Amino acid sequence: MKINLSNIKKAKYFLDNDECVGVPTETVYGLAANAYSNKATSKIFKLKKRPKRNPLIVHYYCLGDVKKDCHINEKFLYLYKKFCPGPISFVLKLKKNSLISNNVTNNKNTLAVRFPKHPVLRKLLSNLDYPLAAPSANVSNKISAVSKMDVKDEFGNKIKYILDGGRSNIGLESTIINLVGKPEILRFGALQSEQLKKILRFKKKKIAKNIKILVPGQDKLHYSPGIPLRLNVTKPRPHEALLLIKKKYSSHKFNFYLSKNGNLKEVAKNLYSTLRIIKKKKFKSIAVEKIPNDGIGEAINDRLMKASKFK
Ligand code: TXA
Ligand code: MG
Repeated sequence: MKINLSNIKKAKYFLDNDECVGVPTETVYGLAANAYSNKATSKIFKLKKRPKRNPLIVHYYCLGDVKKDCHINEKFLYLYKKFCPGPISFVLKLKKNSLISNNVTNNKNTLAVRFPKHPVLRKLLSNLDYPLAAPSANVSNKISAVSKMDVKDEFGNKIKYILDGGRSNIGLESTIINLVGKPEILRFGALQSEQLKKILRFKKKKIAKNIKILVPGQDKLHYSPGIPLRLNVTKPRPHEALLLIKKKYSSHKFNFYLSKNGNLKEVAKNLYSTLRIIKKKKFKSIAVEKIPNDGIGEAINDRLMKASKFK
């Protein structure tokens, strides 16, 4: 993707002035603000209608920058070298003298950090004197945004600027791993947990147990298109939108294919945008066929499970 420098300048201008800006990442779009500024970060919570207790992920350009704010450890360095920049967020111990706004951490002593890979965002980060706090660019509990238009859909004219970076390549949020104490996966995501499990030798039970406790934003209804969604459906009801993961004969009237051939990466990439389309077409409910739990399927099923809590 070609980087438009005048757009980067515009984004920087608004961020330097404590405004929120929509930014592209390879996972989903973020609603970004200067992580060192109380004024800027408080705007994120207001725009997203996000509870104050739910901390934000901070996006950095490189290792040297994160060292100013966090204590790093060997496990982190190992994973950083292997996977960054990329779709993984690390919870680290915050340094006492860090400039990170208390809004970002909810006054706690840990910080979630991430090194996004998207070239447009990297260019922007390299031009800033501060890291960017950026939750997903959606109103709390709604579907994440994967394009500039989606961000516009969520916030309209309430945000001053959205930096365009095309469609997010992965389409699902980053994997979050807690590296304070014993490593734990807090959210399944774009970086497949198999890769992490091998390196850190997790027990599966441990992962499931900790997801709810440590990530406040993950324990309830989330990622919701705002209409009922049913999982593992073999017999859709006549007026339901049906999500399928490969082309096949279906006597159902309203079929939406997330992939032509069951490619789960493609399914992940198309999931949120297809849910958005279905909602705009005013369907009253969604049925989803069974999706294998392999690879990124684990994160897809995690999101769909949370979306299905809407009644
Ligand atoms: O891919 C992503 O991670 C996207 C892009 C924009 O980077 N961001 C994203 O942020 O998904 P958000 O705020 O929608 O989800 C971050 C999750 C929340 O559930 C929050 O509770 C958790 O990370 N989190 C943030 N800081 C934390 C911390 N210090 N300890 C535990 N969980 C934390
Ligand atoms: Mg989110």
